Amino acid sequence: MRIAMIGTGYVGLVSGTCFAEFGINVTGIDKDENKINTLLNGEIPIFEPGLDVLVERQTAAGRLKFTTDLAEGIKGAQAIFIAVGTPSRREDGHADLSYVYQAAREIAPLLEDYTVIVTKSTVPVGTAREVERIIREVNPNADFDVASNPEFLREGAAIEDFMRPDRVVIGTDSERAQEVMRRIYRPLYINETPIVMVAPETSELIKYASNAFLATKITFINEIANLCEQTGANVQQVAKAMGLDGRIGGKFLHAGPGYGGSCFPKDTLALAQIGQKHGTPQTIVEQVIEANSNRQADMAQRVINAFGGDVKGKTIGILGIAFKPNTDDVRDAPSLVVVPLLQEAGANIKAYDPEAREQAEKHLKNVDWKTNAYDVAEGADALVILTEWNEFRALGLNDLKEKMNQPLLLDFRNIYTEAEIKARGFNYISIGRPEIKLEDCSAQLKKAG
Ligand code: UDX
Repeated sequence: MRIAMIGTGYVGLVSGTCFAEFGINVTGIDKDENKINTLLNGEIPIFEPGLDVLVERQTAAGRLKFTTDLAEGIKGAQAIFIAVGTPSRREDGHADLSYVYQAAREIAPLLEDYTVIVTKSTVPVGTAREVERIIREVNPNADFDVASNPEFLREGAAIEDFMRPDRVVIGTDSERAQEVMRRIYRPLYINETPIVMVAPETSELIKYASNAFLATKITFINEIANLCEQTGANVQQVAKAMGLDGRIGGKFLHAGPGYGGSCFPKDTLALAQIGQKHGTPQTIVEQVIEANSNRQADMAQRVINAFGGDVKGKTIGILGIAFKPNTDDVRDAPSLVVVPLLQEAGANIKAYDPEAREQAEKHLKNVDWKTNAYDVAEGADALVILTEWNEFRALGLNDLKEKMNQPLLLDFRNIYTEAEIKARGFNYISIGRPEIKLEDCSAQLKKAG
């Protein structure tokens, strides 16, 4: 079997490589010559754990190829996946579909035998039908069907998510296309992964509804965390007990500095726009978008408040810039809001992220970049944990304290307990947990062993 993947960005590269692992011949096509040359040289333009090994294995096996030549790339493909970017349009938050439609227009005259055109990018309801219309318009004789097949890959865990998904969603009205898609996903089919066959519109909406629901869950617990702070309740215990209810589930209930990344912010905005367009406002999602944006800004205010409202001349050390661990992605990361607000308020910023510095430097200016947490701590008036990288979970607290101007830790990911931090003489601010008295710390630590 042979397929083509148009777009070798995050989704295209991970999906294409994993399909090659399934034993399918895959050609990755991209207009960006640099990207293709990088890949042809055996380098991976993105950071995703485990991806380099798979790309190397599959290119060596001859199952994974890369080209900038569309005609050559799609030759003989039974399915052509469109996995190009769909950025939010700056003016109105609508997903920008120009790359998707452009790809459809360019494929159309090149189609020969029966082909399934698959939209893999996250696209608004109705896009698969529009792709179909465009191809028919350009090439009325083409023998093809269209299918929507959204991805649910988490950055940092994308390969695992692809190989062991909770479900595969396929949206097409055509039985012939269903058959081709079943063959492509055959290894998962054998593993009894649920394959949900629906209409294209339903498939497109499943993706938005899923991401918006997860974003809502996070925003919900973040607001509950605020309430915990006012009432003396503990958000981690609230979330844990809520999650034990099978109807709720424990995942995506970690309070933090607000969600970021390439999907949730973009997809919630797009869903709100789709709702408006169809006269059925998605008011909950609209509220989630606003609450999350306020939350990111509020994190900066919390740092400022820790200094009695004035951070002028203070040195703030930021640990973690990526929107979450195991990625170098900084898109819509809380750090991109927090750092500039602190700078505006007069603070000097030192920062360290294990992977994201290069990406972050495109957005953040006047940051004193360090290569580890201890250099960030040197002379700092506060340390702020914004991303829960594993290496921040076991910091040498005594070393940090010695290097800092004053021992203040703001842990916006709740990766420490107040007892362990305070017992080492730090002032500690976390999310949604009641403050405990210093004299209670040792008792709590003893109890925890
Ligand atoms: C997400 C979806 O999980 C994936 O299915 C989809 O297709 C693409 O978008 P991703 O953006 O890679 O994946 O990251 P995810 O792990 O979902 O986290 C998104 C954001 O939410 C991060 O900023 C993360 O820190 C935050 N988050 C997540 C929380 O604040 N609390 C949580 O409990 C979970």
